[in-house]
Amino acid sequence: MKAFVTAHSAYEIAPIDDRIYGAFLEHLGRAIYTGIFEPGHPAADADGMRADVMELVRELNPPLVRYPGGNFVSAYNWEDGVGPRASRPTRLDLAWHTSESNAFGTHEFTAWCKRAGTAPMLAINLGSRGLEAARNFVEYVNGPLGSAWGDLRKAHGHPEPFGVKYWCLGNEMDGPWQIGQKTADEYGRLAAEVAKAMRAFDKSLELVVCGSSSSDMPGFPEWERIVLEHTYDVIDHISLHMYVTPENTSLANYLALNQKLERYIGSVAAVIETVRAKRRSKRRVTISFDEWNVWYPSRLPDRAVLAGEAGWPHAPRLHEDVYDVADMLQVGCIINSFIRRADIVKIACIAQLVNVIAPIMTEPGGPTWRQTIFHPYHLASTFGRGTALKLAMTCPAYDAEAALEVPWLDIAGVRDAAGGFVTVFAINRNPDEALELCLELTGFGTLALADHRTLASNDLSASNSMTHPDAVTPRQGGGARLDACRLTASLPPLSYHMLRLRTAG
Ligand code: AHR
Repeated sequence: MKAFVTAHSAYEIAPIDDRIYGAFLEHLGRAIYTGIFEPGHPAADADGMRADVMELVRELNPPLVRYPGGNFVSAYNWEDGVGPRASRPTRLDLAWHTSESNAFGTHEFTAWCKRAGTAPMLAINLGSRGLEAARNFVEYVNGPLGSAWGDLRKAHGHPEPFGVKYWCLGNEMDGPWQIGQKTADEYGRLAAEVAKAMRAFDKSLELVVCGSSSSDMPGFPEWERIVLEHTYDVIDHISLHMYVTPENTSLANYLALNQKLERYIGSVAAVIETVRAKRRSKRRVTISFDEWNVWYPSRLPDRAVLAGEAGWPHAPRLHEDVYDVADMLQVGCIINSFIRRADIVKIACIAQLVNVIAPIMTEPGGPTWRQTIFHPYHLASTFGRGTALKLAMTCPAYDAEAALEVPWLDIAGVRDAAGGFVTVFAINRNPDEALELCLELTGFGTLALADHRTLASNDLSASNSMTHPDAVTPRQGGGARLDACRLTASLPPLSYHMLRLRTAG
């Protein structure tokens, strides 16, 4: 099986916004407690932040991290998570039926972000609360001294404003599971007023309005239209969420699901354009794909907690999915989709970052390790920054449930900002046949193959664990050849490749 791909230095999609390599941390299960924060752990610093986890987060290098939810935020009182720890209340978290000690809150999160070298993206509760709490929160976080909220922040030990730029106006507000679910009109009106107030405080904030919880929601994409008609002039991004699952479908269908994700992006882009045209607006709203990943709905040993049969445990094990090789390929394909839609997707957050449906796992009191999905995310975050290239491709294809004519090859190309490298991320989705890739590169000058890393395994169900943390890990690729401007490589069935070419002249 052969795939012919052409790249030309003059054919670009758009600059890739680094923020597509963002991540998400929620007060859910062990994401925070015994995830990033575990006082008393041998690797914890004086503030209880696990340095071993921090090191892996730094490897992934997410430019921003969304927090504190997710569903959790829709009944969260931000005031509970600030001030002396001893007087912070323990609350019942209605989203996940657990207890929230509030030992970790806004100060701890922003300090963690600083140490991790990432920017905080804070979500506001527009479920159980509204304009007043949102306004107070943003003033507490970013307000000057000499104002009541700024002075309170100082009294809590942080005179300097935190300077948080990115704000999500609620979370999945169309979802029947959401505390404070709203209709599109109710939410659109509220979000518009909250955005107006936040902008009155600081015009430079970047605001994200909730889209549908997924493209499978009955209200999609009408929800987007209505919400955008209310908010278009005062927000910057609309959120998309999508979790894919390999359950109840074939491998080929599963690995085609990023085509559904791309159609979702295309539909929302069209709604944005429609509303923009109706409003005769020059403003360009873009997409924040702030929750995406693989999720196994049936793998719930934690069902009793979610059903409320286990009381109100603090930081139980919830949604600790173990990812295999197929999931790793899937994550590579999804990130390729974001690169191909660099024109409209400006933020994306893998959901989540630690322990909960996550690339990084921890054991309380024990080690941390990288799941299989860590690796394609890491390679893309490291080598996938710059400008997305427009690639032309001919490749055998198949019909899947999610889309017709899905090419067996999934590929994205990037030129780095300095123009010294062209990198391609290529996945052979075919379970049976190797794919002979032939990539013609025109106008890039003299090329040299600088790196080839591959991710694959003979065992598709292989995964990493505490005892075998490196069962699946990138290896140096072999067999790729560069002949002047033509790169050829044989991509074995179900394999991922990062091919990096140095350009000169
Ligand atoms: O990431 C887990 C949950 O999935 C989030 O809390 C919610 O926003 C989504 O439904």
